[in-house]
Amino acid sequence: MKDIVYEIIGSILIIREQTDESKLTEFSNRMMQKYPSISTVTLQTSKVGGFERTRKLEHFMGNKTFETVYKEYGNSYLVDISTSFFSPRLSFERQRIAKLVTKGEKILNFFSGVGPFSIAIATNCNDCIVYSIELNTNAYQYLVRNIELNKCVGRVEAYLGDAFNVVPKLFNNKMDRILLPLPLEAEKSLPIAYKALKNGKGNIHWQITEKTSNKEINNQTFENRVDEILNRSQISSNFQIESSRLIRWLAPRVAHRAIDLVFN
Ligand SMILES: C[S@@+](CC[C@H](N)C(=O)[O-])C[C@H]1O[C@@H](n2cnc3c(N)ncnc32)[C@H](O)[C@@H]1O
Repeated sequence: MKDIVYEIIGSILIIREQTDESKLTEFSNRMMQKYPSISTVTLQTSKVGGFERTRKLEHFMGNKTFETVYKEYGNSYLVDISTSFFSPRLSFERQRIAKLVTKGEKILNFFSGVGPFSIAIATNCNDCIVYSIELNTNAYQYLVRNIELNKCVGRVEAYLGDAFNVVPKLFNNKMDRILLPLPLEAEKSLPIAYKALKNGKGNIHWQITEKTSNKEINNQTFENRVDEILNRSQISSNFQIESSRLIRWLAPRVAHRAIDLVFN
């Protein structure tokens, strides 16, 4: 039997395909036998969407909960997957960024979710601080709990609000490194992030989408795109693309890219 499209987050199996109930039951039983840690099966009935990047889920089998703990590189993330974004597929990207951070850095995460990037950084760097903003109240509440759960109090600070309001009010000209993990707002967030860099210098981890079927990256295209965006906001800056990579395919011709920008 052809396997059904699915995802596992902690103890929850998410079936991402509509099919008849007997196939779903057979598949769920098979998966629960294969992975004894699965205690809930849910059906995903919408795509991930909106600025909060959430999806509609329906309970199908097992424990009636959408809350779970996802463990990664010694950290634990508590999340309600029906109200907050979470993706195990960003695990490598979180570790990659965490390893780039150096002693004493001040870091700003515009779009924190339940905290996996911020906490991955803080648990890799004892004397850094990660200011972490989140708009979705549910995700923010889990962010606060995850900061405590992972003993990051004082190293990750949570702010409930819209990053486009919070950043200019609190963080202009203060940060060494900035994370922009929301491709939907890639263009709008870049000039605001630039203004939050201390003396216009530092690193911005810019996540974007690109319509392409090509895995290879042409950095010149992105340099031009950054130039255009910053010029529109009357920002003149010196920057290089330090590295760029494909995070994942969001659709057959939509690449989710990580672009590391260094301003000097
Ligand atoms: C793609 S998710 C990434 C979350 C997190 N970085 C992660 O990897 O799990 C983007 C997050 O940004 C939040 N968000 C969207 N617009 C925002 C805004 N203007 N200000 C602050 N947070 C926002 C969403 O609610 C969502 O939790």
